[in-house]
Amino acid sequence: MIPETILVSPPKYVPALLSAAVLLAAALFPRTALTALPHRPLLSGAGAPPQLHRILERSCQDCHSDNTRLPWYTQLPPASWLVERDVAHARSFMNLSHWETYSNASRLAFLAGLASVSRDHTMPPRRYCLLHPGACPDDTERAAIASWARQELTRLRSQPNP
Ligand code: HEC
Repeated sequence: MIPETILVSPPKYVPALLSAAVLLAAALFPRTALTALPHRPLLSGAGAPPQLHRILERSCQDCHSDNTRLPWYTQLPPASWLVERDVAHARSFMNLSHWETYSNASRLAFLAGLASVSRDHTMPPRRYCLLHPGACPDDTERAAIASWARQELTRLRSQPNP
């Protein structure tokens, strides 16, 4: 018979096992694939002013471009898996490094989106702002994104061959 104390004793080895699993995962997947992409400028062909580039590079490009910079703690699983999924979603929705490849219809939709998320404070996601203090646009910068987006919308709409 197994003594009852063995059956109910708390599994003290669980934390050790978990840390071993994390270390093993880190060794197996040392860096995420996100870091491998070459740097590409944002909004190419859109003629956005340098100050707008600076805002988007600080606040949006980690997710919506090829130029993702990852802090060290996001390079290790399991954080890397969460971040990778987030960035993959964000890029597949809109990748600002590939602006020139989008149709005019897509660009118009993105520009409307840029204006509305800036106005509504829905982007960047709250968790990103909490983890990256200083990376979130302030009200003046949000207004700059929105006003440029509206200006670019008007410019694209007036083009003869959309
Ligand atoms: C932490 C990653 C992250 C950052 C930083 C980020 N986004 Fe996003 N963004 C996402 C994800 C994820 C989605 C959702 C994509 C989906 O639904 O597939 C998204 C969606 C959007 C959408 C579509 C929203 C909608 O409701 O239709 C717009 C527009 C957008 N982002 C603009 C921005 C702008 C502008 C910035 C910078 C000010 C920014 N994002 C910063 C991750 C990010």
